[in-house]
Amino acid sequence: MRIYREKDYDAMSRRAAAIIAAQVVSKPDCVLGLATGSTPIGAYKQLIAWHKQGDLSFAEVHSVNLDEYAGLAPTHDQSYRYFMQDNLFNHVDIVPENTNVPSGLAEDAAAECARYERVVAELGYADLQLLGLGRNGHIGFNEPCTDFPKATHLVDLTQSTIEANARFFASADDVPKQALTMGIGTIMRARKILIVASGADKADAVWKAVAGPITPEVPASILQLHPDVTLVADEAALSKLAEGAK
Ligand code: GLP
Repeated sequence: MRIYREKDYDAMSRRAAAIIAAQVVSKPDCVLGLATGSTPIGAYKQLIAWHKQGDLSFAEVHSVNLDEYAGLAPTHDQSYRYFMQDNLFNHVDIVPENTNVPSGLAEDAAAECARYERVVAELGYADLQLLGLGRNGHIGFNEPCTDFPKATHLVDLTQSTIEANARFFASADDVPKQALTMGIGTIMRARKILIVASGADKADAVWKAVAGPITPEVPASILQLHPDVTLVADEAALSKLAEGAK
């Protein structure tokens, strides 16, 4: 695993954006696996800036997002489809039909999960998968559990995730209790993985993901087995990891 230790959130965001841009420049028709959450927002802003300068085009890119809240319409301002439109897609030249996010409104969630897994598989899985880290070590919405879920599935969110994400909703009661998420197997099929982490409240999850035992209790720990992982984090998020970062 390559680790970039950056001074702060802005430096982390620029580094992550540079890695994503390098992927797009070297393979313009690549499949980008994208993530939501507050951590990647700065990287998306940098990508938009490079696009507006004329240095970066997403015209041939396909995207696959990790997850979506069950029950939220794409127009709901806390849905992950809305997040992606607002923070990236509406500001770059990606073709709308080439962007994929699971549907939170599907009546048959299991069928939607199977459909989404097929979409990702038919695209050949992600060339580069961007991941944030939940405070409990979740990736996508793969919560701590007793096994590593293989494919896209419906998941019950843990209380800690509901509380962590309540800041975006009027109250914790308004946070959906379920989500559709790529499985660990879907994520692990990406050719490259880019993890972003910022802030002291991620230090424990970063340490467990990078240096702890590989266990479904810390879903991100499975990434230790992936052959091409880059972690870009700020000093606060790396504070529990000993030396070794470059
Ligand atoms: C949500 C998302 C994750 C994300 C996590 C951390 O739970 N499903 O993909 O990594 O939040 O979010 P943040 O970056 O805001 O800490």
